[in-house]
Amino acid sequence: MIKITIVSIILLNTLTTHAQKTYIASSPDKKVQLQVNLTAAGALNYQVTYKSKAVILPSRLSFTLKEPVVELQDFTVIKVDSSTYNQTWKPVWGEYSSIQDHHNQLRITIKDRKGSDVSLVVVFRVFNEGVGFRYEFPQQEKLNHFVVGDEKTQFRLTGDHKTFWIPGDYDTNEFPYNTTRLSEVDAGSSTMSQEIHAKTFFNKNAVQTPLMLKSNDGLYINLHEAALVNYPAMNLVIDKSNFTLTSHLVPDAVGNKAYLQTPAKTPWRTIIVSDRAEEIIPANRMILNLNEPSKVTNTSFITPQKYVGIWWEMHVGKSSWDYSGGQVGSQQQSRVPHGATTANTKRYIDFAAKHGFKGVLVEGWNTGWEDWFGKWKEDVFDFVTPYPDYNINELSRYAASKNVKIIMHHETSGSVTNYERWMDTAYRFMRKHGMNAVKSGYVGRIIPRGEHHDGQWMVRHYERVARKTADYRISVNMHESVRLTGLHRTYPNWIASEAARGNEFNAWSVGNPPEHETILPFTRLMGGPMDYTPGIFQIKLNVYDTAKKEQVHTTLAKQLALYITMYSPLQMAADLPENYEKHLDAFQFIKDVAVDWDDTRVLAAEPGDYLVIARKEKGKPNWYIGAITDEEGRTTAGSLSFLNRGKKYVATIYGDAANAHWQNNPAAYAIENYIVDSTTDLALKLAPGGGAAICIKPATSNDVRIHKTYR
Ligand code: NOJ
Ligand code: CA
Repeated sequence: MIKITIVSIILLNTLTTHAQKTYIASSPDKKVQLQVNLTAAGALNYQVTYKSKAVILPSRLSFTLKEPVVELQDFTVIKVDSSTYNQTWKPVWGEYSSIQDHHNQLRITIKDRKGSDVSLVVVFRVFNEGVGFRYEFPQQEKLNHFVVGDEKTQFRLTGDHKTFWIPGDYDTNEFPYNTTRLSEVDAGSSTMSQEIHAKTFFNKNAVQTPLMLKSNDGLYINLHEAALVNYPAMNLVIDKSNFTLTSHLVPDAVGNKAYLQTPAKTPWRTIIVSDRAEEIIPANRMILNLNEPSKVTNTSFITPQKYVGIWWEMHVGKSSWDYSGGQVGSQQQSRVPHGATTANTKRYIDFAAKHGFKGVLVEGWNTGWEDWFGKWKEDVFDFVTPYPDYNINELSRYAASKNVKIIMHHETSGSVTNYERWMDTAYRFMRKHGMNAVKSGYVGRIIPRGEHHDGQWMVRHYERVARKTADYRISVNMHESVRLTGLHRTYPNWIASEAARGNEFNAWSVGNPPEHETILPFTRLMGGPMDYTPGIFQIKLNVYDTAKKEQVHTTLAKQLALYITMYSPLQMAADLPENYEKHLDAFQFIKDVAVDWDDTRVLAAEPGDYLVIARKEKGKPNWYIGAITDEEGRTTAGSLSFLNRGKKYVATIYGDAANAHWQNNPAAYAIENYIVDSTTDLALKLAPGGGAAICIKPATSNDVRIHKTYR
């Protein structure tokens, strides 16, 4: 139940100096301070400090409306309310079994003072992790339907921060990250994106959120948004002369930003801050707290799970999505066999059943792949017609007999009008065949033509898919969708998204540099789980074709660690069964690792360099740890003080062998068992591009007898 306690003026000081008005709110622990000023000239500015250090300097908030034309930039304050909220809630699945939402809120009602009489409310919430704020347009005589020309929210930073960024874009987030000073951002310089087919670059100074920054005075700052509903996604444009970032909303086909009707509200703009990198990833709870509680009432159909699939074999060119052969994805014309045959699917179902996986994804099962790609063509797939060599009735029976579920695949090829026409039929077809999870995809330019992946029209589509799949008791994992903003709290059946550069890029492009996975948790994953598809054991891909130069840019042990560092309730074991069969000892970690957690601790972190995360399996005494590094070999530390005192545990460490290296010796790993307890300090030696994965379970007396104590 939502309960808001109105607290008195303790949190709110109204100081009146000349005509300027100032309103103050702080976080429950007082470390984060928000100050909002209405200047004598009517400008509304806000600023944020953390432990008295400036995070955001006075930054202006304004809006341009079209239809009616109104510049909302000079205001008078009508009313200010403050309140405190402190409640704990339980997510359906996640990194924590319960989450506290404790914040102080300031609601400032303002009115245009230039004569339109339009009023709006800016709502600020101050958490221990940072600040969220949004605009609300109440129902009012002077404003009913309106078109947003632009939102001009500013974030004025204190200096030339170190920035982990990808180019601002209207259609894709599948870029590798750049690490530069703010003043050095050059979104046009991205040389590694030629494989992305729908991209709409618009400004060399624009970047996407979640944006991760580090100041010279040691503050880690993350800018993003929460609850992106019925509104376009936000890019940020940098003014290098004063380090001010200004929101730039993704436009629609005719250049407008959003169509709203009062009462309306924007997504929350979020500023997360800490002086410890270890506190940034857990602060993604602030983004969840800014989202609405679950709208899905009966959630029993939603199953966090690991899955395998007919997938990587197409990406490495061993088989094809297309029944008639040909590597459609990479546009090569060589003929390879169709992957999604009845016999091959049975092989994956058998493998899943044998090793305890609940799901088998099958891509390329349906007609349309013969001519799906890059044509901006509307009628491509119908989502219900299998290829002749895919016996869906027989496979549905076979999967059920093995207690495995086939995961449906809906590639829309960006033709969303077509998908919208087929959705009900397609979901009914899934239910008829015993399926309750779908992976969807939006490769290519969007139809309606001129719309963008990250504009309001598509944001509404993704939400419609989340609602409709929930109605059919289906979970959905979207690829090429807009970046996540914590909406999985509201729609827990929206179980994951890709929405960033996944492991697949290692199969057919220059790939993901070893630092990539040390940045994603601080950027894309702040908004929600990613279907990164880890677990590639055959790192060198020339085994599929001697001419193939691509490889995965990690060691094998790092692929295991990603199951912990790259949070998702849906995790693929992405490699081929035959590759796992060659390394069944290492595969054991993927079989064991949990996907749903009671607790999460970041033991060590530096974005772009390394990350060590420990997570406690939901409802079990077991802990799992993932440690990863960038291209530098290093020893990472981690205290096990979170273990129950006085209890002995056995830790199985899947680490890089002494001579491992992502490039020339990636498959060299070592598995060791040790006795550990809450006084143990781990020192994990990670190879260049390497990692370590650890499974910690309560020790039996036999374990204590046979294993050494960790030192
Ligand atoms: C891109 C997706 O990310 C990938 O997982 C999928 O296999 C292809 N599109 C084909 O739909
Ligand atoms: Ca993709």
